[in-house]
Amino acid sequence: MKGLVLAGGTGSRLRPLTYTGAKQLIPVGNRPILFYALDALVEAGIYDIGVIIGETGDEVRRAVGDGSQFGAKVTYLPQSAPLGLAHAVRVARDFLENEPFLMFLGDNLLRGGLTGLADRYRGGNYAASILLTEVDDPSQFGVAVLENDRVVRLVEKPANPPSHWALVGAYCFSPVIHEAVDTLKPSWRGEYEITDAIQQLIDWGMAVDAARVEGWWKDTGRPEDVLEANRLILEDLATRVAGVVDSESQISGRVVVEENAQVLRSVVRGPVIIAASTVIEDSYVGPYTSIGPQVRISRTEIENSVVLAESVIEDIPVRIDQSLIGRGVTVRGTKRRPQGLRLVLGDHSRIDV
Ligand code: TTP
Repeated sequence: MKGLVLAGGTGSRLRPLTYTGAKQLIPVGNRPILFYALDALVEAGIYDIGVIIGETGDEVRRAVGDGSQFGAKVTYLPQSAPLGLAHAVRVARDFLENEPFLMFLGDNLLRGGLTGLADRYRGGNYAASILLTEVDDPSQFGVAVLENDRVVRLVEKPANPPSHWALVGAYCFSPVIHEAVDTLKPSWRGEYEITDAIQQLIDWGMAVDAARVEGWWKDTGRPEDVLEANRLILEDLATRVAGVVDSESQISGRVVVEENAQVLRSVVRGPVIIAASTVIEDSYVGPYTSIGPQVRISRTEIENSVVLAESVIEDIPVRIDQSLIGRGVTVRGTKRRPQGLRLVLGDHSRIDV
């Protein structure tokens, strides 16, 4: 079985971060979201992986390389425009040859991995196995109607959802999916929809199997989703202190301090990860915070946040909470005292508060 990871798209809901970078490379727990997807495929026994890339393709290539760091062989598949998930399958057709494949959205995270889905598909004789999770409000998702473990109908973003089973971004397909993709016309939003292709398989009387998510699933489309994904990833953090923590600092809970990082006269309450060559001084770093490499945080309190590489945060008079801060950002306190900062800042933003 081959793998197909979608790392193109626009990422409009994550602007301004996605003006300067791929959304799939935004880190949670200081690791690009896309890397967890590649790990999950390899863990499921899938090593030959095509990665769909769009405008941010160069950055994705630089980060992922030939895939050997994941134990995989990666082939890049440029998509001319983000015309939909089924369009991505069409772009990948030559790469996929006549093999079954597992397709996964490069901005999704699955705690339980992809092995369960791959094994279900391999164990049956299906045209497709699709991964589903029960959600409270299915109206924002593709929704599946089930009879036992069979999918009998799919509805995209229904006003009156026929079930609570939402499609998450993981699918196994037999090569017959290419024939279904060939029948598609663009949807009302101008995209070739993978749900329409799966519905076509059902209409042809083919077996579409329903697999269920084990553990949590998170789509990281919006800033609040990235923060939530970061929280979920940090739940599994194991303590490791390779950098310097001075005697005037207090560390509690599960905390990672990477090589050459320094924690000086500060309080760190885990789960927190502090990347290499970052300095935390006279500050408080609270639970569910990931600080990237070469960051400086001085005389500031921060929690529930993600800070990307090379940013500087100093003298902030109120605690920074629930914030997603891009690369090379400067946030500096002045004598003014605005309360309750809530920041979503793009790369190289500069804010004097
Ligand atoms: P989406 O989150 O549906 O789309 P998007 O990335 O364009 O984001 P936004 O809605 O905020 O503008 O895409 C899911 C994943 O699939 C994501 O990793 C991007 C990828 N993708 C492609 O690679 N090609 C495509 O044609 C589309 C639509 C998405």
